Amino acid sequence: MKDRPRRLRTTAAMRALVAQTHVLPQQLIYPAFVREGDGDPTEITAMPGQFQHTLDSIRALACELVEAGVGGIDLFGVPDQVNKDAAGSQAWAPAGILNRAIEAVRAEVGDELVICADTCLDEFTSHGHCGVLNNQGIVDNDATLDLYARMALAQAQAGAHMVSPSGMMDGQVEHIRTVLDTHGFTDVSIMAYSAKYASAFFGPFREAVASTLCGDRKTYQQDPANRKEGVREALLDAAQGADIVMVKPASHYLDVLADVAQVVDIPVAAYQVSGEYAMIEAAARNGWINREAAIDESLVSIARAGADVILSYWALEYARRS
Ligand code: PBG
Repeated sequence: MKDRPRRLRTTAAMRALVAQTHVLPQQLIYPAFVREGDGDPTEITAMPGQFQHTLDSIRALACELVEAGVGGIDLFGVPDQVNKDAAGSQAWAPAGILNRAIEAVRAEVGDELVICADTCLDEFTSHGHCGVLNNQGIVDNDATLDLYARMALAQAQAGAHMVSPSGMMDGQVEHIRTVLDTHGFTDVSIMAYSAKYASAFFGPFREAVASTLCGDRKTYQQDPANRKEGVREALLDAAQGADIVMVKPASHYLDVLADVAQVVDIPVAAYQVSGEYAMIEAAARNGWINREAAIDESLVSIARAGADVILSYWALEYARRS
């Protein structure tokens, strides 16, 4: 027999030599939550090992990420319930928790990490939706765009290198790009959550940000049944000026990720979301899965499908052990 593919699998050194996909710490982004108030960071029950940080602990975390060689951090704000309102105005208030967190991290690590911010209102609205509601209680696309622009501007002013619109409003990338440019932030980049599906795998995230959402996001996030639509969304965002397009969630959407990676000529990100994290952690806690091997396999699979950048709650741990 001439063709014996097993020859290249004979030893660990041989397998390493011919491995076709590598996940490097520098291509990982760590999503992190920052809440208002002092005290110790609060562990998130549904995401063991992940925390709602304080302004103090997020600074320390940022230093650890730099030391481990992680590429970036994506910051999410968790305001006190009393600071939420129908429009989500703490999202663009300079003293809002997310903007203060951006400022704190930038002051701590400067340009050593790519500092990204989630540009979406759901953490800040009293109703938990990603935009403002019209008279019928439906998220009003065009009225929301101006609020995203204000939020992105506040994030740039606070020191974000990259804003990350994740609310799935039509036209959000173009609107944000215009406002950033008008105010001189031509170098602040946009990582667009382009193909974002209305997913049950965001479940644990709702606890992480103390979400008040009732109902669902199906009128703005995509239907999991739609593959081509993911490509359509990514192409629209690229045309509107996105610097990076994202597919989210990652593991259950590798087909969409591969499609998007084929058609765009800008970097593609994939977000390994809270539910993907929680499932492996829970199975590992029960002794049902080899935790590290499952984490590594999940990350390499996302990279193999075409992700240049991966958002993962395991970014720090993975970087430390690679
Ligand atoms: C919206 C946002 C969500 C996530 C990231 N940005 C929640 C949602 O769309 O319902 C989910 C991330 C995760 O599950 O890890 N601001």
